[in-house]
Amino acid sequence: MKDRILVALDVGSGEQALSLAGTLRGAVGGFKIGSRLFTSEGPSIVRALTAGGDRVFLDLKFHDIPNTVATAIAAATELGVWMVNVHAGGGTAMMRAAGAAAHETASKLGTDPPLVIAVTVLTSMNQAVLNETGIAIDLMDQVLRLAELAKEAGLDGVVGSPRETAAIRKRCGAGFAIVTPGIRGGTADGAKGDQERTMSPAEAVAAGANYLVIGRPIIAATDPRRAAEAIAESL
Ligand code: C5P
Repeated sequence: MKDRILVALDVGSGEQALSLAGTLRGAVGGFKIGSRLFTSEGPSIVRALTAGGDRVFLDLKFHDIPNTVATAIAAATELGVWMVNVHAGGGTAMMRAAGAAAHETASKLGTDPPLVIAVTVLTSMNQAVLNETGIAIDLMDQVLRLAELAKEAGLDGVVGSPRETAAIRKRCGAGFAIVTPGIRGGTADGAKGDQERTMSPAEAVAAGANYLVIGRPIIAATDPRRAAEAIAESL
């Protein structure tokens, strides 16, 4: 079950990220690199982890014209990432191009393609913010619509908040990966911080999550490895 835990390396430097990965290696399923670390450290931080065999979720949420997204996904595949994401709002053509680029690049390299997953509606958005962007339907309907679109475009899954996980699982069925952040409580100790709608690790898995993205309950713990092990045991 530890393979389900993806640790968000939300730290300021490559040095800190590598040290944290060193502490946690073997106790978790992979590491998430987001736009902060990638922007300051560049692709070398990704390579440093993938070259050693770590599973890396490159969380850069691509959203652009299909050709640009396809070439970015090809570049991520060349870096050896295990999971990468795009915004479902980029539409079917963009998502199909992303999936195709992952498969074509991997087959050229003779490697496995990364899982390509989609972000539906950012969890920082509420109904009013969604309406402001001109999308006048119920937020949960929009989440489910985009999840279904991602599935139809052949992508491997979506990111879903704890509040959305069960509904996405029901709509999209088994075999579609759901990656769930916002994990708190149970064995995931730590202040909620800016996370509003949270679930414990075991609750999120029971709701249908395949992977849990966990940051502060592990990386800010006094003993990060022990914190990760406790979460894995609770699953
Ligand atoms: O520290 P914490 O466990 O809250 O970290 C969660 C990680 O998941 C962070 O990297 C955050 O940016 C990311 N994330 C999130 N909510 C989303 C999507 C991503 O918290 N909806």
